Amino acid sequence: MAWSIGIDIGGTKIAGGLVDESGQIVQQERVATPATDPHHIVVAVGDLIQRLAARSPQPLTGAGVASAGYIDKIGSTVLFAPNLAWRDEPLKARLAAYTDLPVLIENDANAAAFGEFRHGAGRDIDDMIMVTVGTGVGGGIVIGGRPLRGAFGLAGEIGHMRVVPGGTRCGCGNRGCLEAYGSGTALVREAREMVISGSAYAARLAELCAGDPSTLIGAQVTQAAHEGDPASQELLAEVGRWIGEACASLAALFDPELFVIGGGVADAGDLLLEPIQTGFAAQLTGRGYRPEARFVKAELGNDAGVIGAAALAAELPVPDSTVE
Ligand code: BGC
Ligand code: NA
Ligand code: ZN
Repeated sequence: MAWSIGIDIGGTKIAGGLVDESGQIVQQERVATPATDPHHIVVAVGDLIQRLAARSPQPLTGAGVASAGYIDKIGSTVLFAPNLAWRDEPLKARLAAYTDLPVLIENDANAAAFGEFRHGAGRDIDDMIMVTVGTGVGGGIVIGGRPLRGAFGLAGEIGHMRVVPGGTRCGCGNRGCLEAYGSGTALVREAREMVISGSAYAARLAELCAGDPSTLIGAQVTQAAHEGDPASQELLAEVGRWIGEACASLAALFDPELFVIGGGVADAGDLLLEPIQTGFAAQLTGRGYRPEARFVKAELGNDAGVIGAAALAAELPVPDSTVE
């Protein structure tokens, strides 16, 4: 195994890194995610791969690109992305114009899960589930030491499990998905609503957004919660409860040893993790009579996607120039 490139396309930033065989990011770069136009994202990712490849002192196996959304099983096309403009985007083919390296596209949460599994919190674990709590809710499932891909490569979309029949509209178009309640998007929606209510309880949040709730962002809610603001702590606890209860359902299906919690909202640390564990314990069937999964914060933090995408690329079969 040699070095490889990992790219993680996020809602606000595209992160890229040269990653060595031990999963260390040797060099990294971040660029702002070009707004809305999917074509500009392709250009930004292509340029980033070129720059990183040019700087590598080592031969590279390939480039792994992590993106939100439903990616086909062969790692080439973004079929559908609930919170992005991509529909049937042949990302791998488009990136071939920028690099001769083999390119693999993977779902962002699957990539992060693989990073944690190979080089992070799950390195000694065969059965783990990663949950990323950010703009969306992502999932990556590793069972028996193997990532669960599904028949079409679309397994692990836990953000779109329905948790409330007829509930709040989700970015995917359906109602009542976990993501509509247990995400950074839901956190901000609820925080803004609280400010709009004019309640004294929301005073700290109102202050942070200078009275304009439309400018309030998730990091401010986390900041206020860390400072001890009870309203912000309650909002985070609510998000955590939804995630924890969903993890109890996941335990019923997959019986993992470990849940790894990542994504931007996980920056809240125990303010998110503890309510997740409480929600999990409250909803777990057979509690008290069965072994229970542990919960940890992503060990690789925000680098899990880059490291995981690179690890997947490092494990690509050696390219054969006669086949595409
Ligand atoms: C998407 C997933 C993605 C997750 C986190 C969800 O809305 O459906 O594909 O992994 O957001 O970005
Ligand atoms: Na996934
Ligand atoms: Zn949904």
